[in-house]
Amino acid sequence: MTDVELHYPMSRTCPFDPPPAYAELRKSDPFTRVRLWDGTAPWLLTRYDDMRVVLGHPQFSAEPLREGYPHVFEGRMVADKADKSFLRLDAPEHDRLRRMVTREFTVKQVEALRPFIQGIVDKLIDQMLEGPRPMEFVEQFAQPLPTEVITHMLGVPYEDHDVFHRATRTQFGSKSTPDEVRASLKELMAYLDDLISRKQREPQNDILSRLVKEQLEPGHLDRGAMLNITRLLLSAGHQTTQNMTALGVLTMLQHPDQLAAISHDPGLIRGAVEELLRYSSVLHTGARRVALEDIDVNGHLVGKGEGVICAIPSANRDENLFPDPDRFDVTRDAGPHVAFGYGIHQCLGQVLARAELQIVLRTLFTRIPGLRLAVPFEELRFRHDMFVYGVYELPLTW
Ligand code: HEM
Repeated sequence: MTDVELHYPMSRTCPFDPPPAYAELRKSDPFTRVRLWDGTAPWLLTRYDDMRVVLGHPQFSAEPLREGYPHVFEGRMVADKADKSFLRLDAPEHDRLRRMVTREFTVKQVEALRPFIQGIVDKLIDQMLEGPRPMEFVEQFAQPLPTEVITHMLGVPYEDHDVFHRATRTQFGSKSTPDEVRASLKELMAYLDDLISRKQREPQNDILSRLVKEQLEPGHLDRGAMLNITRLLLSAGHQTTQNMTALGVLTMLQHPDQLAAISHDPGLIRGAVEELLRYSSVLHTGARRVALEDIDVNGHLVGKGEGVICAIPSANRDENLFPDPDRFDVTRDAGPHVAFGYGIHQCLGQVLARAELQIVLRTLFTRIPGLRLAVPFEELRFRHDMFVYGVYELPLTW
């Protein structure tokens, strides 16, 4: 393994496209070793078909404590190893815990939530229209929207958002040191522990109160597991959608012909959201697994104990599935994308994320038709160094 030359994560050259090396690898070396910060060299998979085999295979484990699991950043390793939520557990425990919270994320429940989401979007747009121009879209819109939605569902006071926004910034940053991550986890877990005690004393109509009553108190869930589920839902619920919203709006603004198409035909909006998810693939550090036995993946052997990184942004640009994959086209069939992963860990919040993004696209450009970037594109700072990709600030005017 001394001849491993590629280092991971790799750099992008265009902010909208994955690292150019992925396209080369898909053609010439779809199973390749990459060197990580800690000297280990897991497999990097770049083709769609291979990734689906790995993510759908019960003998590829998602547990970060297992030998060989690929850790892409040092600080993130600390957070992942401390994470006992079902995202980081294999079946059957994964399935048992996930089932406890699926109820609120079904199509039916999310449909019922649409008027609430619409209300938040309308309020945020009112504030944009009443406030000064230019405005900063990430802080004033993309971040509050999913945070207000998930805090409402969970029963977390929105006013406390500083605590968990600070925590996700540290835990999702590639430059965070292990000590910073440990301190941030400690602060967040203390906050959540206190919150769960409050739910025990004064239950309300929300997910956390339901979990306390149906799972924690009868002993189906211990307090540590309850804390981990809460942390997962809170961070997954705002971090990804926030970045997808800002990047999605920017992508639409940079493609005026596509924006005009969805404005003339709102029937295209559902497809446009799928295309934005495919094109942006904000989980740009991939889904990671480790093989529990020797496994044949489409003719390639992954040995027991070897780590695998599934490059989701590359799968979503695989020319075998998506013709002319680097073209952003709201009319294409982007449906089979893997932006939400695949297999048992496929995103629990995908119906919710889709609803939020559809409502934003439908409302924002209709109410503010002249919306545009307030700074030259070259001045934007992209989140190359974060676990979830996006744009740090998005100054807009109209
Ligand atoms: C555009 C927004 C989103 C994207 C791109 C996204 C992406 C993903 C991906 C790729 C995975 C699988 C990770 C893996 O296999 O290792 C995942 C899992 C998960 N996501 Fe999302 N997500 C989004 C929004 C949300 C929202 C709004 C929630 C709400 C709580 C959420 C909750 C979860 C949970 C709980 C899991 C773990 C599922 C499991 O392990 O069974 N996500 N997400």
